[in-house]
Amino acid sequence: MAPEGLAPKLHFFDTVDSTNNKARELAADGGGEGIVVIAKSQTQGRGRHRRVWHSPEGGLYLSALLYPREKRRASDLSILAGAALAQSVKQLLPKSKDVTVKWPNDCLVGWKKVAGVLCEFLGEDYFNLCVVGIGINVNVADEELKKFQGNPFGATSFLGETGGQFPLDETAHIVVNKLFQLYRIYQTQGLAPIQYVWEKNCAFIGKKVELRESGWRDNPSYKEGEVGATQGKMEGIDESGAIVLSNTTGERHSYLSGEITCYWP
Ligand code: BTN
Repeated sequence: MAPEGLAPKLHFFDTVDSTNNKARELAADGGGEGIVVIAKSQTQGRGRHRRVWHSPEGGLYLSALLYPREKRRASDLSILAGAALAQSVKQLLPKSKDVTVKWPNDCLVGWKKVAGVLCEFLGEDYFNLCVVGIGINVNVADEELKKFQGNPFGATSFLGETGGQFPLDETAHIVVNKLFQLYRIYQTQGLAPIQYVWEKNCAFIGKKVELRESGWRDNPSYKEGEVGATQGKMEGIDESGAIVLSNTTGERHSYLSGEITCYWP
C-alpha cells in the first residue's frame, strides 16, 4: 500500500467496541507503529469533547498507531490526519464543492461534518505512541445521521452527498494511503509541509469564526455569548497546529484547544 518507508499493517474486524481500544490492545500486546485497525461497526465509538461517535454498518472506522516527532505532540498527528482526510474526501467526491478541513481535524462537505478524528496519547510506557482514530460517514443513511448529536455543523455522508454507495475497502485504501504518505513526510521534514497541505484544504481561512472552549456544551448553565467563546478572523494554524485568529485591530492569538462552532460566510 505504501510506496516506500513504513507500510501499514492492517487488522480487519467486523464489530469492535472502539477501534481506538483495539489498537491500544494491540500496542499492549507488543504491536507498534504502523498497525491499522479497521472495523465495519463499533458499539462504543467515541468522539472528541466526550461525544459518542455513532458507528453503524456503512461507516468506516479505523485507528492507526503512529509516533509524533516530539514528546506528547499528539496535536501534530491530529493536524496530519485532518489533512489526509480532506485530501481523501476530495479524491473520493471529485464533484463535491466545499470539501474542507475544520480546525483541528473535522472534514466537512457542504459545511456539514462527514468525518472526524480522535487522537489519543498512549502514555510514556509506550514511548509516546499515539492512536489516530478516524471515523467517516461513507454509506450511512440520513436516518442514522440524525443520531449524531451535539455537533454544531450537523452531519452528512458520502451516500447523502452523492446518492451512491461507496466500496468501503477502496475508501479505506485511499485514506490509509494518504495518512501514511503524509506521515512519512512528517517524520522526515516535520509539521511545516503538513501545515501547508492542511491550510490549502481549509475553507475557513479568511473568514470570521467563533471558537468555543472544549466542553462548553457540557455546562448546563451555558448561555450564548458567555466567556469561553472567542470570535476572530481565522488566519491559519501555527507551527504547533494551534489555530490563529486575529481580532478587529489585527492582533493575532493562537489557541491550542476548543471547537469552531460557527462561521460567517
Ligand atoms: C470527532 O470528530 O468527534 C472524532 C470522531 C472519531 C471517531 C473515530 S471512529 C474510529 C475511532 N474509534 C473511536 O472510538 N473513535 C474514532
